[in-house]
Amino acid sequence: SYFKVGVIAGDGIGTEITESAIQVLQKLADVSGSFVWEFTHYDWSSDKYLERGWYMPEDGLEQLKRHDAIYFGAVGSPKVPDHISLWNLILPIRKTLTQYINLRPTRILPGTSSPLKSCQIGDLDWVFVRENSEGEYAGHGGITEVAPGNAIGTELAIFSQAACERVFRFAFDTARSRPRKKLTMVTKSNAQRYGMVLWDKIFWEIAKEYPDVETDKMLVDAMTVRMTLHPKSLDTIVATNLHADILTDLAAALSGSIGIAPSSNLDPTRRNPSMFEPIHGSAPDIAGKGVANPIGALWSAAEMLRWLGAGREADELVKSIETVTEAGVRTRDLGGVATTKEVTDTVCKELENI
Ligand code: NAI
Ligand code: MG
Repeated sequence: SYFKVGVIAGDGIGTEITESAIQVLQKLADVSGSFVWEFTHYDWSSDKYLERGWYMPEDGLEQLKRHDAIYFGAVGSPKVPDHISLWNLILPIRKTLTQYINLRPTRILPGTSSPLKSCQIGDLDWVFVRENSEGEYAGHGGITEVAPGNAIGTELAIFSQAACERVFRFAFDTARSRPRKKLTMVTKSNAQRYGMVLWDKIFWEIAKEYPDVETDKMLVDAMTVRMTLHPKSLDTIVATNLHADILTDLAAALSGSIGIAPSSNLDPTRRNPSMFEPIHGSAPDIAGKGVANPIGALWSAAEMLRWLGAGREADELVKSIETVTEAGVRTRDLGGVATTKEVTDTVCKELENI
């Protein structure tokens, strides 16, 4: 096969972990001999924005549509307000390319541990299905100065029936594909009485189509407690754009580090390319030091392979990552001393054995 991938490394450690992912993907192509990559690199970043005044050219989204998939590092710089960088790059891509699912698996990798004392490998094995097209990140609202010195900002969350139905069906299908067939829906319909109430109602309607999937409902605040105290009780989880954004950072931390967590922004209709990126940001505090954990990026690359149809190679890559963490080659965030490059090179070496 021939896979055309658009690559946006972005800012901070985004460039470092993307380099790592490309190196590993190229290695995998070389050793497996079953596919060829055509990578197209886009230098769309905050530094370029400061220079040129734009993140993406006018036809940027059209350019991205030509690829089979998009690989993304991270965007965000201390020199640019975060809402500008997010709304000029990552969010328009997710929305315009109808990547309405953000899939985020989390588990404890061999040789690493959870900060939760009693939580062993296997006790924390979750998949979050994040609504990725609307909700709290619909982008509607404004700031109005109603009187001198008195401004009001509004942020409108939008929940449409169609978007709720499609994300719930995807979540139920995901839950059904896993051994425990268990789906937890996260909400805040006690305090938010319109959008979240509709969200709940549609969930229970779709649930009728999946009698074989065990379901329950959690208010988002109580969900943080359950994730921390009873991780084993959870399997597949569906949540809104904002709730899942927050809960998946917590999930990553509970599984060992934010640096290991992958994500897939999927257009399940496959009309547009899907986009793969670690869940973390540009981490300006460690950027340029060569110590960023590349595993979130490498695992995202494996998920990209899986989406492109190379499931066997995706499994091999995940297995190699696990062999390397188990062998103790780990970055600082996982309690080790290895650099980004050392982890990457060791994964590549491991791939030679497949
Ligand atoms: P962050 O995820 O960049 O960093 C949070 C903490 O985790 C930092 O201490 C960082 O050093 C650590 N960390 C993150 N990834 C790591 C890795 N691979 N290895 C080791 N340690 C890692 O979140 P933060 O600091 O809130 O945001 C920084 C910038 O990134 C902001 O401009 C923000 O808007 C942007 N951002 C971008 C995202 C994206 O591109 N999809 C997602 C989240 C944040
Ligand atoms: Mg986030």
